[in-house]
Amino acid sequence: VPRMKLGSQGLEVSAQGLGCLGMAGFYGPPKPEADMIALINHAVASGVTFFDTSDFYGPHTNEILLGKALQGGVREKVQLATKFGIRLDANGEREVHGDPAYVRAACEGSLKRLGIDCIDLYYQHRIDTRVPVEVTIGELKKLVQEGKIKYIGLSEASVSTIRRAHAVHPITAVELEWSLWSRDAEEDIIPTCRELGIGIVAYSPLGRGFLSRGPKLMDSLSEQDFRRQMPRLQPENLDKNLKVFERVTAMATRKGCTPSQLALAWVHHQGNDVCPIPGTTKVENFNQNVGALSVKLSPDEMAELESYAAAGEVQGDRYPSKAATWKDSETPPLS
Ligand code: ATR
Repeated sequence: VPRMKLGSQGLEVSAQGLGCLGMAGFYGPPKPEADMIALINHAVASGVTFFDTSDFYGPHTNEILLGKALQGGVREKVQLATKFGIRLDANGEREVHGDPAYVRAACEGSLKRLGIDCIDLYYQHRIDTRVPVEVTIGELKKLVQEGKIKYIGLSEASVSTIRRAHAVHPITAVELEWSLWSRDAEEDIIPTCRELGIGIVAYSPLGRGFLSRGPKLMDSLSEQDFRRQMPRLQPENLDKNLKVFERVTAMATRKGCTPSQLALAWVHHQGNDVCPIPGTTKVENFNQNVGALSVKLSPDEMAELESYAAAGEVQGDRYPSKAATWKDSETPPLS
């Protein structure tokens, strides 16, 4: 697996990462710990060394799992990204926090669960719209100075939030949903990242598995799977979106690859500053995803793929509410 520079501060990662959310149980029940540790070790042995987690995955259990997998000399071989900012309140409702005391406590908690003394890349998972982003980044800057985190990232942040944050301390990476059927960051956010030398981490590059498995994904979703709430998978949108999957699948067959590989290759072709982090809990799928690095697409093939998932072809928003996205990430001015 090739290596790439992520951002302009010196971080180097594998050109494809591994998203660990599915291991923790957001996509159906949590997966057996021993199998997940074996998968993580297999990834490292294959050259995929960039792992993406969050204190919210589980919550907490995914970091504990990674902490176990990092024992015995593995930690030194990997680049570990985790996140802070989302937690569940007493009623199980999602809340977002970015005040300095929360940021510091969250970092200490993650370090402990991961069993490490420094986080390579620490993302603000979602933006707290009550706290000027300068204040949140100011605390992260202190954590950098103290050696508790190495690089700073933002997830689902708007252009103005990215610019304001970057002015306080250089941002190394912005994580955003980017795939054939999720292209809303292309207009403003991605060009801004490029202008500022910020690396781009593309999450859900497989459309949360829909671009991989289409109708089969729908049949396999368990009751607790949070994808059941995704607008794009609701009955009124599904038929149209299944056509996108069918066209991608037909092209993959022609190319002699799988739909997942085609969807990932499309992201890999966006530039050497983009690192997709497909999520998987299976060695077989992991191997297939790494194989996407060898799939070559001509400009015509890229255009063809894009036409299948053009605006108008994809029905439904990425999330049930804009509160989970960069569209609701403006913070008050610093007074
Ligand atoms: P996220 O970023 O939210 O993890 P994603 O990377 O777009 O989303 O897609 C993850 C989903 O795709 C998971 O449900 C994963 O299922 P497994 O854990 O069973 O693999 C599925 N997935 C990943 N790679 C796949 C592949 N090569 N073939 C089929 N499904 C795959």
